[in-house]
Amino acid sequence: MKALILVGGFGTRLRPLTLSVPKPLVDFGNKPMILHQIEALKEVGVTEVVLAINYQPEVMLNFLKDFESKLGIKITCSQETEPLGTAGPLALARDKLADGSGDPFFVLNSDVISEYPFAELIEFHRAHGGEATIMVTKVDEPSKYGVVVMEEGTGKVERFVEKPKAFVGNKINAGIYLLNPSVLGRIELKPTSIEKEVFPRVAADGALFAMVLPGFWMDIGQPRDYITGLRLYLDSLRKKAPARLASGAHVLGNVLVHETAVIGDGCLIGPDVAVGPGCVVEAGVRLSRCTVMRAARVKQHACVSSSIIGWHSTVGKWARVENMTILGEDVHVCDEIYSNGGVVLPHKEIKSSILKPEIVM
Ligand code: GDD
Ligand code: MG
Repeated sequence: MKALILVGGFGTRLRPLTLSVPKPLVDFGNKPMILHQIEALKEVGVTEVVLAINYQPEVMLNFLKDFESKLGIKITCSQETEPLGTAGPLALARDKLADGSGDPFFVLNSDVISEYPFAELIEFHRAHGGEATIMVTKVDEPSKYGVVVMEEGTGKVERFVEKPKAFVGNKINAGIYLLNPSVLGRIELKPTSIEKEVFPRVAADGALFAMVLPGFWMDIGQPRDYITGLRLYLDSLRKKAPARLASGAHVLGNVLVHETAVIGDGCLIGPDVAVGPGCVVEAGVRLSRCTVMRAARVKQHACVSSSIIGWHSTVGKWARVENMTILGEDVHVCDEIYSNGGVVLPHKEIKSSILKPEIVM
């Protein structure tokens, strides 16, 4: 089976992290977002992943070359010369996706995190006999998403409304699809939205089905949702693979510490923290609801909560970093500084406190 991941887009809502790497390469739970997806696809027998990309393809491919051999999966790029939206890229990659086998193929939005229940998706798709299956999940604020109205027993989709202005329902498109090659016949090679142009038509023909996604789901394309997503991801690890979580007197709740990270004496870490590869957390540090990315250092007695510390950054001694502070790559927060929601661009040194949420350029 094949899969296409929609990688395009500049990831502006996840700046300043996406000023250093394309959104799918931003670390989540100590590894790039896209690796969670590729590993789960490999598990259900996907042999080739096509990245539909319209920006920095060489960065993505260079990075993923290593993983091709490690995971034993083929990773190729399908590059657009103009953004083709969420359906146009499928037409561009038509020959790769419709390989003559007749097998359905996966399509994923690159910024959604879940337990990726792909085996259940394949089973549901085979059983209903329609052309396309989308996974749906319930949310409190459906207006930010594509809303799906479906027949309860069968899952047959009656309506698909992208970003509705008025309330239609609370089941939304999770950005995870399994499509028959016949769907490609419905898409022209031009900028097209799968949500606005393709799904409503497949639904009108009675050939679109939806399956309620078991387990957690989050679109982690914005900092607040990224931090909530980490909590849900760690909750799920606690149930499925508790041995991967840290334990000990210095750990509170669900915490992921990379095996190459170093934690000093007298720290208190958790809940809902990820400490990445090569990080150094010095003595007496307090971390909660935060991500510390690869090679970052948090110095003695600093306190970090509800924040993201980008790659190679440092947080000084006795510093306090909180309330959705996002440090880009290689940012240095000096000793005793306070950051309340500072969003700091890469390679900056912060010498005075940031008292209210603002962007520091
Ligand atoms: N290759 C390519 N080209 N990819 C694109 C393009 C493009 O022109 N435009 C967007 N994408 C990719 C994005 O990178 C992302 O992975 C995916 O398509 C969806 O785009 P977003 O910008 O993240 O859309 P959204 O979050 O507002 O809404 C979508 O996701 C929701 C779930 O998170 C829709 O699919 C909604 O229906 C859905 O509920
Ligand atoms: Mg999104």
